[in-house]
This record gives sequence, structure tokens and C-alpha cells, in this order.
Amino acid sequence: MDQEVISRSAAETVALGKEFAAELHSGSLVLLRGELGAGKTQFTKGIAEYFGLHDHEISSPTYALVNEYDLSSSGSISKLYHLDCYRFEKPEELIELGAREYLYPTHGITVIEWPERIEAYLPKKRIEVMIEILSQNVRKISLFYSANG
Ligand SMILES: Nc1ncnc2c1ncn2[C@@H]1O[C@H](COP(=O)(O)OP(=O)(O)OP(=O)(O)O)[C@@H](O)[C@H]1O
Ligand SMILES: [Mg+2]
Repeated sequence: MDQEVISRSAAETVALGKEFAAELHSGSLVLLRGELGAGKTQFTKGIAEYFGLHDHEISSPTYALVNEYDLSSSGSISKLYHLDCYRFEKPEELIELGAREYLYPTHGITVIEWPERIEAYLPKKRIEVMIEILSQNVRKISLFYSANG
């Protein structure tokens, strides 16, 4: 199930995110790893697009920490949670935000940028997306599915 693809533009990463989203279901937790500017937010835009949200509605939650999108019109998945933990000073901040619903999204999907910041709190059941910068516009995107992710 694990796979590796090369993206040669931001638009291609959005398209790959959209394609990837077709495999998600209620309760899916997606961890996006990769350095600053790797393309984690671009990939998330693709996921959001798949669920009927428009590109311009999706912003990086770097300041908000979490963005919550309502998908109620699109079927069994009612929410998309997009977290960016880059600015977390202490992982406990996640608890204050309402960690349980984000980490175990019973009726939604959660996408987390900078999961490294809250590593100890992350459920084992997850899908990991690793984005590596190969050159200015080229990225290697690797997917890892946990046994029951
Ligand atoms: N192949 C590519 N895939 C994704 N982004 C690309 C690619 N080539 C160039 N870019 C550029 O890299 C940047 C990626 O930005 P993005 O906000 O998605 O990164 P990020 O991983 O979310 O960073 P941060 O850790 O700051 O949140 C954008 O400016 C985008 O245009
Ligand atoms: Mg980002």
C-alpha cells in the first residue's frame, strides 16, 4: 500500500492530494511531514478540493492552529480538521484545543502539519505523508499506511 511519487509543481502536489483523498474515510488521521515550504499545505488543499471545498477557502492554519471545515453536504464525512502544530510550545496546548476530536475524528478527517510537535499524543493508526524537497519545484512524496490506518 505504501507508495512514492514525484511532484514537479505546486499544482501537481494539489492534484496528488486530491487523488490521495479518495482513499480517506471517517476517522482517518493524516500526518504531513516535511520541512518548511515542502508543500504540506498545498497537499492539504488537494484533500480539501476532493471534499468540495475551494482552493481559496483553505489557508494555512499557522496562526489559528486549527481550521475546521464543514463538509456536511458531501456525505458521511462531516468535518475536515486541518491542524498546524508548528507553533505549539508544549504539546499540552493540543489538549486545550480539544485533542480528542482532532486525533480521533469519529465523523471527520484530520490532517496535521508538523505532527513532530505532538508526537507523543498521536494515535498509532494513521497515514503518514512525507514530502521531501528535491529541488526548487520538485518534491518526493511518500505515503505510509499503518497496519489498520
Ligand atoms: N512540487 C511542488 N509541490 C508543492 N509545493 C511546491 C512545489 N514546487 C514549488 N512549490 C512551492 O513550495 C511552497 C510550498 O508551500 P506550503 O505552504 O505548501 O509548504 P508547507 O510544507 O505547508 O510549509 P510550512 O511548514 O511553512 O507550513 C509553495 O510556495 C509552492 O508554490
Ligand atoms: Mg503549511
